[in-house]
Amino acid sequence: MSRSDRPLFALDRRTLLKGALGAGLTAGGWPLLCAGPARAQFKAFPFSLGVASGEPAPDGFVIWTRLAPEPLTPSGGMPPAPAEVTWEVAADQGMQRVLRSGKASARAEAAHSVHVEVEGLEPGRDYFYRFRAGGAESAVGRSRTLPAPGAAVSQLRFASAGCQKWEEGYFTAWRRIGEENFDFVVHYGDYIYEAAAAAVDDRGRPLSRVMPPDFGPCLTLADYRRRYALYKGDPDLQAAHASCAFLPSFDDHEVANNWTADADPKKKPLTAFLSRRVAAFQAWYEHMPVRRSALPRGPDISAYRAFCFGNLADIAVLDTRQYRSHRACAELFDSCKQAEAPERTMLGAAQERWLADILRAANGTWQILAQQVLFSRLDWRFFTGHGGAELELRMDAWDGASAGRNRVLKMLQETRSANPVVLTGDLHRGMAMEISANPDDPGGPCVGVEFLATSISSDGDGSRNVRNAEAIFRQNPHLKFLNVERGYTRHVVTPARWQADFRAVQKVSTPGAPILTRKSFVVEAGRPGLVDV
Ligand SMILES: [Fe+2]
Repeated sequence: MSRSDRPLFALDRRTLLKGALGAGLTAGGWPLLCAGPARAQFKAFPFSLGVASGEPAPDGFVIWTRLAPEPLTPSGGMPPAPAEVTWEVAADQGMQRVLRSGKASARAEAAHSVHVEVEGLEPGRDYFYRFRAGGAESAVGRSRTLPAPGAAVSQLRFASAGCQKWEEGYFTAWRRIGEENFDFVVHYGDYIYEAAAAAVDDRGRPLSRVMPPDFGPCLTLADYRRRYALYKGDPDLQAAHASCAFLPSFDDHEVANNWTADADPKKKPLTAFLSRRVAAFQAWYEHMPVRRSALPRGPDISAYRAFCFGNLADIAVLDTRQYRSHRACAELFDSCKQAEAPERTMLGAAQERWLADILRAANGTWQILAQQVLFSRLDWRFFTGHGGAELELRMDAWDGASAGRNRVLKMLQETRSANPVVLTGDLHRGMAMEISANPDDPGGPCVGVEFLATSISSDGDGSRNVRNAEAIFRQNPHLKFLNVERGYTRHVVTPARWQADFRAVQKVSTPGAPILTRKSFVVEAGRPGLVDV
């Protein structure tokens, strides 16, 4: 169905009353107590936030939507009652050969979101899906199942992306990702930013887009829901979600800037921060195509998990926020003995044990650690200034818990991980690094590589020119590429080689910019290190 032949949803009072009664509502608009999910009628198009798929498996994936005829209102324009949604999965884009279908209940408790775990499909195939509710039909999304476990696979194509501050730029990079027909997208986090509406950015520069003036900081569930609704209303982001499955994870801005475990960085009382985490995780779950196993329990969410892409790659999606040690040292960029304490961790003991098990069982050519913050050591003194005498490490990254990083490096060594590749984001810069076996000797032998994807839009229009670049590279011999344009990283993986393309959009202050590959690197299987191409 094209946009122009969608049913009209501006209903007159009589139709509305008929619809309300049909939907099990009383004339006062409240649900009848014994009414189950019912066919709903809407004031406006209910699929305003698009569709998404995620968590691919060899026999299926999750499909997601949320009914929100008035997306920016606290309720999304839905009554406090369940609504019935039907779904279909087809072999073709025209939705003629429907293979699976069913009904789901969109419940007010979950912001009328729907998460369907589709099963019984064939491995390594494209599928298409859509939803219907109250006479409305969603856009059609594409998804792809993973190859069968252990299957010989010739290629994997995917993107790693994140950091999408809505106010700071258009989501053109998402539009370009949507055009690539990827196997999936790894989202490293910062899907939303939690700060209040403003007219200028942190440096006083005008913003590309201005949030509605009543958008305060995200503190309550209603705040986080409205923020996701604003972001997910973006047509470029919707196009990316409709194009392939996502493997979502979260970083800090889904909750609060630079949060650590149970602590608010601004040292608010513990209980206040944990209530915020309850709201933030609930809204994250409601808006991500994830499984029921990710439904939060109070302030806790289960977000680390593993995927296998045939015999080609094992993927561990990590959670580096929920179980990490509280921030060390006095400043964000600093160095101190506390950061080197043996008990410090980014993953927590249980996730470390889980990762060791995953790496021990890994059979793929490539072992992917998909995570949020910089893994490699990085000396920031020429980034933050003009190079003082003191080492400056970023305490929000793995440099703030070097013992935890050493344990992961030891795991990679002990499990004889064939070709580790760490995927990262967070810094709004594109970076390629060789991971040193000994982080204190950054130019020494390397055990794997790290590709850091730049931001989709955060920090606004970028530049090819990096201040103090020569000094930064001299200080960090394992750093092979650095740039501050906006975009994403494309990964083309085969049994023999991994190619990472740093994709850049010209500008994000206006929509529709073209995309180009700024730089590519290759890793040859069995030979850790970056080959410049
Ligand atoms: Fe970010």
